[in-house]
Amino acid sequence: MPDMQNDFMLAYQDSCSGPTLLLIHGFPLNSSLWEPQLEDLSDTARMLAPDLRGFGLSGSGDEPYSMALMADDCMGLLDALGVQEPVVVCGLSMGGYIAFEFYRRFSDWVAGMILVSTRAEADTPEGKEGRDRMAKQAREEGPEIIAQTMLPKLLAPETYERDEDLVGFVRDMMESSSVDGIAGALMAMKDRPDSTETLGEIDVPTLIIHGDEDQIVPLEAAEKMRDAIPEAELVLIPGAGHLPNLEQAEAFNEVVWDFLETLKQELK
Ligand code: MLT
Repeated sequence: MPDMQNDFMLAYQDSCSGPTLLLIHGFPLNSSLWEPQLEDLSDTARMLAPDLRGFGLSGSGDEPYSMALMADDCMGLLDALGVQEPVVVCGLSMGGYIAFEFYRRFSDWVAGMILVSTRAEADTPEGKEGRDRMAKQAREEGPEIIAQTMLPKLLAPETYERDEDLVGFVRDMMESSSVDGIAGALMAMKDRPDSTETLGEIDVPTLIIHGDEDQIVPLEAAEKMRDAIPEAELVLIPGAGHLPNLEQAEAFNEVVWDFLETLKQELK
């Protein structure tokens, strides 16, 4: 129990005694990405979903963005909330890049990993040039142009054509991002280290989830992670693009629920 001012102990109840699930969103999104998981999985885990700096309701900060800075921000949140036990780190795409960095810096704090729609490799030289172009465009034309360019590729083609509500939900998230956040995250992704070497060092149970219609990260990237991480399983979600947790929320939640329940047994 925390010591409070005036010398008394404050008792409190928390939503759940399960492990903490740290949900790290992708680019250029925010913690609303995890709405279906926050709704359905709160009984099995304590859910913490930060808005990364520059996104959602968080401030942008003044420092140059890097994976290290954003991983430190996530650890800072756990510290501030007094989390005592290792957590399950779940990162989607850019969130996965941050999850690798979090693992490198704070492996004692990681009980399990969930890597969604992500890859271990760093950007290619062409990819880096694309980041510079996009950052310039964001500064000149605002977040709307980024949403317009990225949206058709983020979702499976059928979802993009038919699910107006979901398309609107994702567009709103993207358009609410600050220009500093967009440009900062692009530079952080451009300069991120290659995490291939880290894969073999991950010694916690790891679940890899990939949409079978992901147009941003190819399935081979997920297969490579599965082959290199000692305790990994890969689950393919049919009918989902880059955001399987939103596009096929029920199937996604079921897989995560099973993973967490098995992990809880192992942690006992
Ligand atoms: C993301 O979804 O976080 C980004 O598309 C990742 C990337 O551009 O590498």
